[in-house]
Amino acid sequence: MKVDGKEMRPIWLNNDNPLEVLVIDQRMLPHELVIVALKGVDDTLDAIREMFVRGAPLIGATGAWGVYLACINAPGGQITDVWLQGEAERLKSSRPTAVNLAWAVDRMMACLASVQGDVHRVRAARKEAELIADEEAENCRQIGVFGVSLIEEISRRKQGETVNILTHCNAGWLACVDYGTATAPIYEAFNRGIDVHVWVDETRPLNQGARLTAWELGKHGVAHTVIADNAGGHLMQHGQVDLVITGTDRTTWTGDVANKIGTYLKALAARDNGIPFWVALPSSTFDWEMDDGVKEIPIEVRNPDEIRYVQGQVAGKTVQVLVPPASSACENHAFDVTPARLVTGFITERGLCAASREGVLGLFPEKGKEAPCN
Ligand code: MRU
Repeated sequence: MKVDGKEMRPIWLNNDNPLEVLVIDQRMLPHELVIVALKGVDDTLDAIREMFVRGAPLIGATGAWGVYLACINAPGGQITDVWLQGEAERLKSSRPTAVNLAWAVDRMMACLASVQGDVHRVRAARKEAELIADEEAENCRQIGVFGVSLIEEISRRKQGETVNILTHCNAGWLACVDYGTATAPIYEAFNRGIDVHVWVDETRPLNQGARLTAWELGKHGVAHTVIADNAGGHLMQHGQVDLVITGTDRTTWTGDVANKIGTYLKALAARDNGIPFWVALPSSTFDWEMDDGVKEIPIEVRNPDEIRYVQGQVAGKTVQVLVPPASSACENHAFDVTPARLVTGFITERGLCAASREGVLGLFPEKGKEAPCN
């Protein structure tokens, strides 16, 4: 996507120095656009844990580039299987909820398993990481192409009046490699001239909606309004939301959706108000093993300081301010799980489907799960 007329992705290999992977430091947006170089696995771990990079598909792509950086930094230039496996495990454990991380690192390892020789391994790792990033970008583009039909239909029904879409967190190009998941159909609709407006949940505690989604949509010219996290239900009750689209960090093949904390409450409010609640995801975000998302998906608990302090700008300087009493306990659950029964359907790179075993397997029959008995 474009930033001030310049094509940008949130991660790329430094063309001038292929020993570095460059990322946008998303902690500094929207007020500063800072690019940071990752030079090894430790840098990569830090970038994932501290959320310079975040969002499920981007965490996956970063993990893939992390394996490349592991290869070029192998001790003595020797990329042994044992050492590489250790680095892969470190990368996979850096954030627990988004399944894309393990998916991408495992794919890199499977690719390297069949390649012998240090030089060949470096070359193969670079090629595979580039492929993963490009494929994820293309998957998101396809999500846009399939998902736009939902917006077109509402626009037709409203005879061209504004279609109001609510989204939570940032499931935009910053969270992916390009286009975004939840935002891809919105960008596609905007590009086709459909009148769209986005309600952007601020998404406490780290404000990915207010900081990142608002920034992205603004750069593309999409009309949007930032709202307090708790405003969605009220807007739905008053006919001001036509459609909810969110992304996800891990979705079970049975249809349960883990996403940024607060998503579940939006799904409940949408159901109560008869508003369609769609989840957009590339196939790398499906977990093909877990059956029960509420019981099984690991939910990351992050540093309580993210609740305690809010970041913003004062007189051109980025500052953190303390909100609750310094002595109050805080707890920071980063994700929640929306059960399949509350999800209208999925928007994937292969098309739309119901949020059910049958729906998901209908699009991905090669996953070879047995058809349910009832
Ligand atoms: O903690 P974050 O910012 O990594 O959480 C991101 C989200 O919850 C996104 O909604 C999700 O990864 C979908 S990204 C296309």
